[in-house]
Amino acid sequence: MRVLVTAGPTREALDPVRYLSNRSSGKMGYALADAFARAGHQVLLVSGPSVLEVPEGVDFLPVETGLEMFEAVKRHLGRMDAALFAAAVADYRAAEISDRKIKKDGETLKLELVRNPDILGSARASFGFTGTLVGFAAETENLEHNAREKLRRKGCDLVIANDVSKPGIGFDSDRNEVLLVFPEHSEAMPEDEKHHLAPKIVREIERLAAERATH
Ligand code: PMT
Repeated sequence: MRVLVTAGPTREALDPVRYLSNRSSGKMGYALADAFARAGHQVLLVSGPSVLEVPEGVDFLPVETGLEMFEAVKRHLGRMDAALFAAAVADYRAAEISDRKIKKDGETLKLELVRNPDILGSARASFGFTGTLVGFAAETENLEHNAREKLRRKGCDLVIANDVSKPGIGFDSDRNEVLLVFPEHSEAMPEDEKHHLAPKIVREIERLAAERATH
């Protein structure tokens, strides 16, 4: 299969030295890219800023902002059989990026933010993607319900939900505990190293892709 994986945070500049971002390290997405490559698939990893080493045998496309990630996915998605969106894309970016360092003149500072495009939400609706589509859901409450909502709204075959309020898993951790939310049922994967979870997730996606091919 040809597989696209998004990973890492995005970084949204406020001025030449400051940015908005989040705590995603890229570990989950890189572990998935590695597991797909080891299973013999052709992988394109579209990653926001991360200090991780690019896994062997994986094509790498580094990006910085949500808009850049959107453009990269839009350009490459058409030739993919499966796509997994593990990136934590910043939902908002600065309405205007100041070309000078913002001065700390007042006691408060107001920033105007605008929505970033929803890359996963564009896959079916705007990019016309017909392959196996897998989203992630980073939730702090109503894990299964919210993930199932995302699955339905964004036309996914699977949403991998993680409870990011639990300490020691999720963002910037080597470990994760996920709930695989399919259209008709859900399946828990108990806490483990991201590198151990990834090959199991790959097998689920191989199964989904094979099912899709026969329908
Ligand atoms: O990188 P790590 O430190 O290993 O951490 C892993 C992780 C917690 C970041 C990862 O497991 C995870 O949950 N990634 C998704 C985080 C997220 O942004 O979730 P969300 O519920 O806000 O977004 C839902 C889905 O839409 C995700 O697949 C996301 O990639 C996608 N999305 C969101 C916003 C946007 N503008 N474009 C998108 O494609």
